[in-house]
Amino acid sequence: MLIQDDFNLKHFNTFHVSAHARYFAHVTSRSELTEALTFSKRQQIPFMLIGQGSNLLFKADYPGLIIELNIKGIELLREDQNYYYVRAQCGENWHAFVQYCLQNNWYGLENLSLIPGTVGAAPVQNIGAYGVEISERLHELEALEIATGKLLNFSTKQCQLAYRHSIFKAELKDQFIITSVTFRLLKKVSLNLSYPSLQEALKGIDRRQLTPQMVSDAVCEIRQSKLPDPGVIGNAGSFFWNPIVSDEELKGLRDAYPDIVAYPYQKQHKIAAAWLIDKAGWKGYREGDVGVHKDHALVLVNYGQASGAELFNLSERIQASVAEKFGIELQAEVRII
Ligand code: EPU
Repeated sequence: MLIQDDFNLKHFNTFHVSAHARYFAHVTSRSELTEALTFSKRQQIPFMLIGQGSNLLFKADYPGLIIELNIKGIELLREDQNYYYVRAQCGENWHAFVQYCLQNNWYGLENLSLIPGTVGAAPVQNIGAYGVEISERLHELEALEIATGKLLNFSTKQCQLAYRHSIFKAELKDQFIITSVTFRLLKKVSLNLSYPSLQEALKGIDRRQLTPQMVSDAVCEIRQSKLPDPGVIGNAGSFFWNPIVSDEELKGLRDAYPDIVAYPYQKQHKIAAAWLIDKAGWKGYREGDVGVHKDHALVLVNYGQASGAELFNLSERIQASVAEKFGIELQAEVRII
């Protein structure tokens, strides 16, 4: 395995910011992963894993080893009356995996089409879109314990998945590397059309004729219509979490802003951060090469040569302005390094 030094990460983060890693390793097997970890230990430098760098902002150069996880493979492990149990290795591209499942008539991931990133990164933040979270389809996952080199299995319950959250972001942060994920996919079609914009996109089509592939296509169309393609304009999707507030807090906000956009979420309310940023006047803002996307206020963009520090600075200005106007502290969903 080749370990490169002073490596430019521009093509390894979807914001396309230039940041240099002291070392970089492209890893295609578990033994190469162990080798890379041993290297960082021996050099006494930190290491960091990346999949496709779709949820990262490099604010500065990285002083350690970046490990690009590229372990591939998809296999049908078994099936029972209702489900297929399908295991994918961590380096599989998420969207390609979703499409592969649909082609095989393994259902249930269609709403999660076109989410950038890899399979291994998906459970860490419990990716979710258009009414579905990965938690609903996860069966178990396998992870390497960094301290001991042992492989352990985690059931869905043990992963403690919640909105954009898992145990791997909390108690077990930086202690495990997810190496493969097993999904429990449906044999019978069961579509989730709860999300308003998805219903709108499929309006006029007879429900009985709808297929999971049609839902996937509709999700792709919606995403393409309002989220910029990171291949064209650097971005990392939603930059902030949607804040979760209590009944009381929402009532207070509604009194002041009757048209505030909020959805019920597990006995509380999720406020559309995009709405807050939009109302604070940031949508379409641009200064130099940094900006807020014109079609979606939750997406910060790099129009070309922006640095990570400039993007971070813009995110702080947005946070301050939303806090001042609404009294809400937005939290970055993107991992800032
Ligand atoms: N809105 C505005 N202004 C805008 C954009 C949106 O006011 O510029 C309002 C609209 O009322 C809209 C509402 O905000 O109905 C919500 O917008 P959208 O449906 O685009 O969803 P979101 O809450 O902004 C979340 C996820 C997305 C996911 C979509 C669809 C988070 C942080 N983001 O976005 O995930 O694709 O729902 O399910 O939960 C990501 O995590 O990177 C991501 C793109």
